[in-house]
Parts: sequence; structure tokens; C-alpha cells
Amino acid sequence: MCGIIAAAAQRDAAPLLIAGLKALEYRGYDSAGLAVLEERQLRRVRAKGKVREMEAIYLADPFPGSTGIAHTRWATHGVPNEENAHPHMVGRVALVHNGIIENHASLREKLQAKGYLFTSETDTEVMTALIDAHISKGMRLRDAVLAAVQELEGAYAIAVISSDEPGRVVGARRGAPLLIGVGIGENFLGSDAQALVQITNKIIYLDDGDVVEISRGNMQIYTIAGERVERAVHESELSVDAVERGEYRHYMQKEIFEQPRAVANTLETRIGANGVLPNIFGVNGEELLEKVKGLHIIACGTSYHAGMVAKYWIEEHARLPVSVEVASEYRYREAVVPEGTLLVAISQSGETADTLAAMRESHRRGYLGTLAICNVPESSVVREADLKLMTRAGPEIGVASTKAFTTQLAVLALLTLHLAKQQGLDATRYNDLCVQLQRLPRAIDEALQIEPQIIKLAERFVHRHHALFLGRGMHHPVALEGSLKLKEISYIHAEAYPAGELKHGPLALVDEDMPVVAVAPNGPLLDKLKSNLQEVRARGGELIVFADTAAHIDESTTRSLILRIDAAGEFIAPAVFTVPLQLLAYHVAVLRGTDVDQPRNLAKSVTVE
Ligand code: G6P
Repeated sequence: MCGIIAAAAQRDAAPLLIAGLKALEYRGYDSAGLAVLEERQLRRVRAKGKVREMEAIYLADPFPGSTGIAHTRWATHGVPNEENAHPHMVGRVALVHNGIIENHASLREKLQAKGYLFTSETDTEVMTALIDAHISKGMRLRDAVLAAVQELEGAYAIAVISSDEPGRVVGARRGAPLLIGVGIGENFLGSDAQALVQITNKIIYLDDGDVVEISRGNMQIYTIAGERVERAVHESELSVDAVERGEYRHYMQKEIFEQPRAVANTLETRIGANGVLPNIFGVNGEELLEKVKGLHIIACGTSYHAGMVAKYWIEEHARLPVSVEVASEYRYREAVVPEGTLLVAISQSGETADTLAAMRESHRRGYLGTLAICNVPESSVVREADLKLMTRAGPEIGVASTKAFTTQLAVLALLTLHLAKQQGLDATRYNDLCVQLQRLPRAIDEALQIEPQIIKLAERFVHRHHALFLGRGMHHPVALEGSLKLKEISYIHAEAYPAGELKHGPLALVDEDMPVVAVAPNGPLLDKLKSNLQEVRARGGELIVFADTAAHIDESTTRSLILRIDAAGEFIAPAVFTVPLQLLAYHVAVLRGTDVDQPRNLAKSVTVE
């Protein structure tokens, strides 16, 4: 992962680079650095920790320079420290990199034989030396990068400057995102549009393999084979407001409260009085979906949990077989693909390396086609899929995903309804499901009103080390998502089980120190769940039950707390019941004083394997 920004500007680059890095911090935040070029002099500052630590060092001794590169890191090779932070400098070259170079060890040996000495353990320093070695043979920076990328195996997005060529930045991408920001008389490179929104909304998305050279007034794009190409300019719809925190204490809190709007936006113009509208999957979408006989869903993290909910929905209402698998496993497994299977890739960012690689792998496996469910329209997953259905969550900055999940569920519900109708679901049932889905934004809004009770509840978790989450049926993925949120941001060990599995192992863990959180909407499995809860009660476990207002569950006692949520319908209940679990994780983390938006060791967009 890591975030990159670079500038060939008319003004001092460092303040622009630092502002851009702050917008990119979600991609990694264990160290940061920048290098600028003034005349032929390269100057650099790097620091362990967040961008603000590096900024403080820069501000104590600022330096001019209108050409520059900068980086915020999520460590892959080498521990997070100043030496391993980017930019790396070798000879006349400074470079920032997002990705992993797999053949760095053999390249390092070759370069050492030529006399290069290395000061860090990173693959990035090797790449920097490789480019410098090509320049030493008399190449210009652009040609040196074009030559170097031929020798690299792995994934990269890079931005490079050379003290021999003031005013120029060369970038390249393969397997990691990089785009150009087109300014007025100046040009930029960045890992995403968010990094550039403060400067420009004119964006050029580079294709995989592209190499680009930018200067203030010019840019030239090349394919990996060195041929000149043109790529279209897009107007990004991102606004500066959308990436600001406003009155909220954390981005995560803002994003939790944005969910009613985000889900409403996602459903808008896609579902009407008579159900799901035509053509929402694009020009040939319906034609392709008509041939679907089954679905394979691949995703990672929170997106995987959304896929798990969809399996329950699609199998129940459309009666089509669905399998769901984490992308990192799927890509290395010889999955059997029955004829007529659609591959569905779910990804908030659309750049997750495992999901992208799994989708690419699917091309040789004989799928009917691919459908991307994604939040970033210009992302690689979207660009490479046959069909796409975008979530319209707006930028999600908090590393722990919230509004991306509920909007993914909204889109997956649309897919379910489309397939269900196509497969001949009874009209009354279809209409009922559509009405429920249209109620979802309001139902989430009402669920958010539980926050004061959650703030009190959070106190019970502050000093706990473990928690167990239970759910049955399509609420098992909701329990998984609740436990993932808690461990991600509060660092409390949490596990989730389908409640019926409790007696096959996890019950052994239950004692007075183990809070057990159960998701209990009304539904056919409620009575089964109640029996499972008795098993916990009988062992003195502390029960916290999120129950549907319509579910008959005993009132609170000293060892069990019942919190009421109006699910507003069985179909949409997984999305509604996720909300209190997000709030619980958030408030526990706030009380524990963790870094809510940027939890330790994690990053939002995992563009490495
Ligand atoms: C990282 C993030 C998670 C996210 C997962 C998949 O692990 O921290 O929040 O769910 O990646 O990301 P994607 O962008 O593919 O949905």
C-alpha cells in the first residue's frame, strides 16, 4: 500500500506534498518523507511515525524547491524507521514506491557487484540504484525508468526525480494505482484523487504498465514498451468537503453517521415504485445476467462479510447457488467453475491486490463474466470488470470500513432483487423486499439513535481482553463484522461464531469475564438463538443482546442487557444491525484511547499481497 504524491509545480512543492500526504495517510502511516529539487540540489526529510512528525521536522528547517516527491509508508520490507522511510536516494536519484518488488534480492546482488552500497533493507532502494545505474550509462531519467521497469518483477507505483533534470518527475505503475493531476501550468502525480483534490479535479488515470514524465507545462505518457499514448482527462467529482472531518471527532464516527445518506445515494435512480430499475448494470448487463446460473463472490476484510450476507440473500430469493471466498485464498486454489457462473468482486477501494489478482486469475477459469461492486469508479477492479455496480458511499477515510459495508449491502440487495425477479420470485414477495430496501436509509437513521446507550455500554468493554459475537443465519456475517470492527480499532480480541456452533468449542471460554454480544433480529432462527443464549447464561456469561423490537426476548437482568433495534424487515436487518456494532467498536476504542482512524499495523487500501 503506501501513498505517493509528486509535484512539478510553479510554487514550493513541500507544503502541497505534505497536504497531499495527509489525505493519503489512510494508505499507511508508519513513516513519511519528502524530497524536493531546487536547481540541481536534492533535499530530503524523513521521519518515523505520522506525516505530522515529518512535517514538524520540515517546518523547523523548511527548504524551497518546486519539484518534489513524497510518501507515507506501510512497512513491507524492513521495520518502520527513518532509514527505511521513503524517498530513497541513490546517486542523483530520489524515488518513492508503493508495492513490492519480488526480484529485489537478485537485483541487489547485481548492483552490489557494480559497486552500489545499500543503507536500508528495502526493495525500493534497490530500484532507486537500478535507475541511477541506467542514468550513469548516459540515459535520461525517463529512459532509465523505462529500462528499469523491464527488469522489475512484482507490483509498483513509483515517482522519481533526478538532480540532473530539475523540473521533471517520472512516474510508473504496474499493479498499484497512480494518476496524474492536471493543474494550471503545473502537474502532479498521486496514488488517488483525494490526494490531489485540494489542487485540481482534472485527473488522468494511468493504465497498468504506463510510464509518465511530467513537468510544469508538459506531460508524456508511454506504454511499458515505450510507445507514446494518450489517456483521457476526467473531471473528478470529489470535493474538499467530502474528505474533511467537519464537526466529528473522528472520520469513522462521521462515516458511521453518513450511512443513511450514503445508502440513499446508492439506491437513488436504481429502485422505484415497481422494483429495481432496468439497465442499472450497464449496457449489456441484463443480457449477461440472464445467463447466470450461479455466482462466485470474492473479497477481503469487511467486503468479504458483505459477500457472505449476499450468499444468504441470493440463495433464498433467487435460488441460485453462491459461493463466497476470501480473495487471497481463491487466487491460489483450483476452484471448479460450473458453466454460467458469474464472478463478483467486492471491494471498497477497487485496488486491493488480492481481489484484483483473483479477478485477473478468473479470466482463465471460464466464467460467464465479472461484476465489480466498488466505491471508486476509476479503480482497477472497476476498469477490468465486465459489469459494475457502484456503491456511492463517498470517500471513506477511516481505516475500519463502515459506510462502505452498508452501501455494499444495498448494492448486493439490488443484485439479489434483480436476480430474484429474473428467476421468477413471487410478485408479492418481490414487492415486499423492494419496500424493505427502500426503507433502509431511514431504518439506519433510527438505529443510529441508540448511540447514547452504546456509549454507556462501551464502559463495560474498556478493561476486557476478549469478546464473543454470536449470530445465526445471515446475522453470522454481521457478528463477524462486529467482531472485526472491535478488534481492528480497540485491539480487544474478538471472535464471532454462528450461535449454533457455540457448544462445539467456544462455550468453554465463557465465564464472567467474557462479554457475549448476540445479534437477535426477529426471524425463523430466533428461538434457536434464544436457546444458545441460555447456554451462555447458564455458565454465568455476560450477555449483551441486540434484539429486534418485535422479538420476544426476556428483559434485561444483571448479567444480561437487551438493547432494542427496529430492524424494519427481515431482509434489510443485516444492514441495520451492523450499525450498533460499529458504534460499540467506535466508543470502546475512544474510551481506550486508541488511534481510531488509523489503528496500529493496518492500512485502508492493501495494494500488496
Ligand atoms: C483492508 C481494510 C479493510 C477492508 C479490506 C478490503 O484490510 O483495512 O477495511 O475491508 O482492506 O478492502 P477493499 O477496498 O477491497 O474493500
